[in-house]
Amino acid sequence: MKFSSRAERIDPFYVMEVAKAAQAMAREVAGTSEPMIFLNIGEPDFTAPPLVQEAAAKAVRDGATQYTNALGLDALRERISGWYQSRLGVDVPARRIVVTAGASAALHLACLALIERGDEILMPDPSYPCNRHFVSAAEGRAVLVPTTAAERYQLSSDKVQAAWTDKTRGVLLASPSNPTGTSIAPAELRRIHEVVQARGGVTMIDEIYLGLSYEEEFGHTALAIDENIISINSFSKYFNMTGWRLGWMVVPDAMVPVVERLAQNLFICASTVSQQAALACFEAESIAEYERRRAEFKARRDYFIPALRSLGLSVPVMPDGAFYAWADCTDAAQRLGVQGSWDFALEVMRRAHVAITPGRDFGSFEPERFVRFSTANSMEQLQESVARLRKLLG
Ligand SMILES: Cc1ncc(COP(=O)(O)O)c(C=O)c1O
Repeated sequence: MKFSSRAERIDPFYVMEVAKAAQAMAREVAGTSEPMIFLNIGEPDFTAPPLVQEAAAKAVRDGATQYTNALGLDALRERISGWYQSRLGVDVPARRIVVTAGASAALHLACLALIERGDEILMPDPSYPCNRHFVSAAEGRAVLVPTTAAERYQLSSDKVQAAWTDKTRGVLLASPSNPTGTSIAPAELRRIHEVVQARGGVTMIDEIYLGLSYEEEFGHTALAIDENIISINSFSKYFNMTGWRLGWMVVPDAMVPVVERLAQNLFICASTVSQQAALACFEAESIAEYERRRAEFKARRDYFIPALRSLGLSVPVMPDGAFYAWADCTDAAQRLGVQGSWDFALEVMRRAHVAITPGRDFGSFEPERFVRFSTANSMEQLQESVARLRKLLG
């Protein structure tokens, strides 16, 4: 069978390959004193809180399951708008909010709406692998710009300026980022957007981890800067609803009908049951629970990053959000007699039964230096993995 060159251009998602190997190994060691600990998972270890579960069950019982408007339930768009006002202090009218099947569908729609064949989109290296594949699925080309710890692994206005060519259409950023958990300083983001605007380009920003921000300095939406910025968000991370497949995107007024037309044709709408359930995310009781969980994620970060550093796994920048640690494993790999993050991750999985993700997925600049740890696991499991790593690394 012949497949499209578009499909052939999409690399495998190595995180999933590693996850499969970890699952196989987990079955082997299940009954032992050291069952597998999964620190390779990119999703919260919590599920939706009770009010959200009940709202989903009620929608099913009441038969409130027909297609919705392609832009989403009006009531949900209003709730999201209210969230921007109460939580982030920004006025985002409901009419500019498009409810989607996760951030993934939002990214897909944004790329299809904005990118012509051959257009280039600048993004940081390292970054979330699927983001560059949304660009190539729209027949554009993702240009990865190497970043440093001093830049918090984010693009700077200088680098955007230097990398801009006749083919550049815009930037796709993520703040806080996967795999680093680091955000762009608001002043730098403003400068980047100015550079992009001056060249007639678009600024797209993936704010899926914004709800899980731990530092006052960084927890601001880019929408506060300019209504021409396109912001992608989701119920997956802060709202703990990964498998419910629900997200949203805020777009400029002129883009709403374009995205609506694409969404009507490609998706009809996001899951109705999930949309009905998500209305309950914004009840005071649910928000209190989400805030308790956010505090738990922060406590895990505060324990785990210093612990990794004490093991000789340097984490050059303290993450300010999300639930990841981007750690340099060069020294630790040498101590195990292996070279590079891929073999290091396999060795840690085999000998300590701790699953982690090698840097390979996230870019081509320094993937062999870094591994990603996820702290979306209980404090007990994090402590146990540190004990095992200490034993392994000496
Ligand atoms: C940075 C980033 N963007 C987008 C996504 C996709 O999220 P969703 O479940 O909302 O489609 C993820 C998932 O891990 C992610 O880490």
